[in-house]
Amino acid sequence: MNIGIDLGTTNTIVGWMNIFGNIEFLKFEGDSIILPSCICYDRGKMLVGSPALEAAKSNPAGFISTSKIFMDDKIKSWDIDGKRFKAEDVAFEILKKVKNTLSEKFPDVKKFKAVVTVPAKFGEDQIKRTAAAVKRAGISLIEILKEPVAAVLAYNDDNFKAGEKVYVIDIGGGTMDVALIELEGNNGVTGFNVLAADGIRHLGGNDFDGRISKIIFEQFRSCSGQNLTDSSTVWGASRKQIKHKIEKISEYVKKELYQKNSDVTINADEVCSICEKKNVCQSDCKFQLDLSFNEYLSACDDLYKWVKELISNDSINEYNIDHILFVGGMSNDPYIRQYIEDTYSDSDVICAADMTDNEKYLTAIARGAAIKACDENIHVVNKLLNSLGIICRNEKGKMYMDTIIAAGADIDENFETHHTYTNNGRFETEMRFEIYEYSGDPNDFSNISYRKIGEFIFNDIIPMDRGEQRIETIFRFDKKGIMTVSAEDLNDHNRSVEVSFEV
Ligand SMILES: Nc1ncnc2c1ncn2[C@@H]1O[C@H](COP(=O)(O)OP(=O)(O)OP(=O)(O)O)[C@@H](O)[C@H]1O
Ligand SMILES: [Mg+2]
Repeated sequence: MNIGIDLGTTNTIVGWMNIFGNIEFLKFEGDSIILPSCICYDRGKMLVGSPALEAAKSNPAGFISTSKIFMDDKIKSWDIDGKRFKAEDVAFEILKKVKNTLSEKFPDVKKFKAVVTVPAKFGEDQIKRTAAAVKRAGISLIEILKEPVAAVLAYNDDNFKAGEKVYVIDIGGGTMDVALIELEGNNGVTGFNVLAADGIRHLGGNDFDGRISKIIFEQFRSCSGQNLTDSSTVWGASRKQIKHKIEKISEYVKKELYQKNSDVTINADEVCSICEKKNVCQSDCKFQLDLSFNEYLSACDDLYKWVKELISNDSINEYNIDHILFVGGMSNDPYIRQYIEDTYSDSDVICAADMTDNEKYLTAIARGAAIKACDENIHVVNKLLNSLGIICRNEKGKMYMDTIIAAGADIDENFETHHTYTNNGRFETEMRFEIYEYSGDPNDFSNISYRKIGEFIFNDIIPMDRGEQRIETIFRFDKKGIMTVSAEDLNDHNRSVEVSFEV
């Protein structure tokens, strides 16, 4: 059975196409099609989704959420009750729950094959980790699909024609993507060609919630004298619980602000339970937050600036845009929406939040993935957003980044590039390759930012003098959208290896 999985920072949604050509969604506890992307490791028991949210109220220390934003972080981990979790382990637990829920619903199905979506800006290491989590969960991977392409697929039937260009703006819980996609095809749209794309890996609805939390923490500090954000204080469980609660309240306040598009007042008297001045409280242990829309906007000023800069991106503005598709949970934000409508007043704007069904606006990406999962004729050409290179040294020992694939390259399963490297040392028997994602000037290390995404060692090379050993590396993208690397000793043609480089 072929399915589509939107493995979101906040919510995971799973869809498939039924025999009538309609998309259905997998239901989790309480009949919800949304599986919150979080876990709670609670006294040796692994809880995923809503039960994890519930358990987190009493055990916030066992709770992990929004871990997807750390998929690019090799070091980041959470230690709970002697167990260590990394972002890919959390993804695995979420996907395992998906697999188990599918198996319960379809006991006769032996194999679930999935198209799984990732943000446009995900690096090759993040993609590899996601694919590994899918495999570990016992789901077979058809393909990794970029989220903006999935969004266009979801809205394609009713809205778009071949030859048109669609500008997707997707702001979710933890990431933001923009992509301009040209539609191709003779009989209906079957080709999705990404002309330009960009994104911010660590910007989403959670950051806006964080600004509201900050206001609440500040108000609590000024009335109780206690600083809940002070990480040097050793906290009792109840303070952690309150902090967790405030984070949830903040998200609720944000949703209220967006829905009302005006000021909100909420009561959060629970926070008073940990106040050390309870006995002398002037306001009767009542904690009320009055937040005007303008106060919220100014607290998020820099975030909005960042969002606006990405939306009115130069690489996108050089094209004529036929449609704008604003998706993700943050498509509910009236301020961003107004900005899009004002900036692109000549284009047709489709806003996912307008879908009348309460949850439908959250399902666009999963719908697109489900459509892709059952149509082999759909062809996608992606843009590589992060340049890839290998750090080398010239004869004088000066470091430079040898570009393997420059950002902006068109990527599909036909992509292949060859690079040959020679030895700097003498009579060595191995060569180490470190693969980096970078932006900036590859020849100027004072003007470049880079991040290692993997490495491999080619060993047992015949010892030769400087410059005589020649190892050719071949970088390809397979049908699943995953980068593969192979290497060959050009002095010994029998020595060709598929490299499973470490991420
Ligand atoms: N009705 C709403 N009003 C305001 N904000 C909302 C609403 N519904 C969801 N959101 C916000 O949208 C965000 C989640 O969006 P979404 O489900 O698209 O994210 P995701 O797909 O899990 O994350 P990502 O795409 O970043 O991996 C959260 O910050 C949430 O608070
Ligand atoms: Mg999303």
